[in-house]
Order: sequence, then structure tokens, then C-alpha cells
Amino acid sequence: MEKYWIIGSSSGIGRELAKKLDAKGYNLILSSRNEEGLNELNKSLINNHEVVPLDLSNKDQCFSVSKDIISKEMDSLNIIYMSATYSPDDSSDYENVINVNILGLLHILSITKEFIKNTNDVSQLIICSSLVAYKGLPYSQPYSMTKAALYNLASSLHIELKNVVDVKVITPGFVKTPLTDKNNFPMPLIISANAAARIIAKGMNSNKFEISFPLPMYLIMKGLQTLPNFMSNYISSLVKKGTDKI
Ligand SMILES: NC(=O)c1ccc[n+]([C@@H]2O[C@H](COP(=O)([O-])OP(=O)(O)OC[C@H]3O[C@@H](n4cnc5c(N)ncnc54)[C@H](OP(=O)(O)O)[C@@H]3O)[C@@H](O)[C@H]2O)c1
Repeated sequence: MEKYWIIGSSSGIGRELAKKLDAKGYNLILSSRNEEGLNELNKSLINNHEVVPLDLSNKDQCFSVSKDIISKEMDSLNIIYMSATYSPDDSSDYENVINVNILGLLHILSITKEFIKNTNDVSQLIICSSLVAYKGLPYSQPYSMTKAALYNLASSLHIELKNVVDVKVITPGFVKTPLTDKNNFPMPLIISANAAARIIAKGMNSNKFEISFPLPMYLIMKGLQTLPNFMSNYISSLVKKGTDKI
């Protein structure tokens, strides 16, 4: 049975996805900083899984945990990268956002990519971006730029690793999680983390590169991306301050 390493499984979408994959009988490696939260999640699941604490902002830890995991899981590893960080009260905390959202994954890939390339045993690499990756909206930096970077990374790996591993990107709209619970503005078409996980679990079994939801939000953001710049910039300029808290 395949094994999924879910990085960012202590809360929100990653936690719900862990529940779905557990119910399908997959073996899991549960990672994030909150070891207690991961153990508590593990106890609530049907099967017993491995808990591997990991702080993505710690480069040495990213290296050592990745080496350890690929040395033990030679025969069936899939990686799902779900993590995000955001500092709602301190927008000057851009360094941590970039460390966790971008560098954390690059550190992990620097160890696992060769393994992925040289083995038939990793079948999926799934990277969580966001629909904000499609268009730079006002007040949403630096989080949004990291999501755009992850989309770009996933597209490029999808081509480079074709026939070796199935690389997918997840682009959610608003999902109710601790990340968005901090938001104090209307979040159109918001869905539950359970619904998001259900869509992701289904999309993982499809041959699509992108798992995007909800459809109306996808169409709006895709529309913004494809309109001429003067039109999409005008529409985007109507976004009110406060949306930096996503
Ligand atoms: N919610 C939305 O509306 C929405 C929309 C678009 C995209 N997304 C994306 O969906 C993914 C999941 O978000 P969510 O809404 O479920 O957020 P969440 O509930 O805040 O979960 C974020 C996860 O990332 C982990 N994490 C944060 N910093 C970490 C670090 N330094 N090292 C390791 N793990 C870390 C957290 O665990 P610990 O605190 O235990 O470390 C947690 O498990 C993110 O990539 C987010 O950008 C969410």
C-alpha cells in the first residue's frame, strides 16, 4: 500500500485530508511543528501512522527528516506539501512566510528530487498553491507571491518529471480553516476543510495536473488572469484592504 507524507497535517485542509486517506487505508507520515496535535490526530484515526515533527523554517531539520524518510520508505512514498504560514498582525514577517512556504519545500526537494528521479517508487508529488497564484491582488503580499512561486514550481516539475512521477498542484479558493478564521472580511464561496479534502482526495486519483476549487471561484480568478491587463488590473483594484489576511 502506498504511503503519503503529508507535510502540514496538524490542522485545516491537511488534517482533513489525512482523515480521508486514513479511511481509504493508506499509510501516512504526519508532519508539522505541532507534535502533540499530530499525535492527537493519529490517535483519532482508524490506522496507526508515523508522526514525524518538522519545522519547515529549519533548513537542517528539512534535510535530516527528508534523508531519514527516504532511507526508510524506499518502496512507496508519495509527498503532499500542504503547509502555509501567515502572520496577521505583523506584515513585516515576510522572511518567515518565504522560509516556510518556499524554502522549506526547496530544502525537501533538494534531498528527495534525485531519489524521486532515480526510483519508480515515488508516484505522486502534490504541492498546495492557491487561486491567488493566478493574479497579484492588492494587499495580499507576501503570502500570494509564495503561492504563485509554488504554482510555477509545480508546473515546471510536472514537465521535468513526466513519466517519472505524477506532479500535481492544488489551487483552493476560500476554505474554512484556522488560516482563514482570522479573516475579518467576507470570503465568497467559502467551503469547509472537509469538503476541500474530499475534492483533493478525488483529484489525486485523476490524471489532471491541477486540483482547483470551488469551480465558480476558479472561473473568476482564471478570467482575471486571461483578461487584458488594463481590465484585470481595474477589477483587481476594487479589492478592499483586509484581503491581506488570507
Ligand atoms: N484556507 C484557505 O482558504 C486556503 C486557500 C488557498 C490555499 N490554501 C492553502 O492550503 C494549505 C493548507 O492551509 P490551511 O488553510 O489548512 O491552513 P492551516 O489550518 O493554518 O494549516 C497549515 C498547516 O501548515 C503547518 N505549518 C505551518 N508552519 C509550519 C512550519 N514552519 N513547519 C511545518 N509545518 C508548518 C501547520 O502546522 P503546525 O502549526 O503544527 O506547524 C498546519 O498543519 C496551505 O498551503 C494554504 O496556503 C488555503
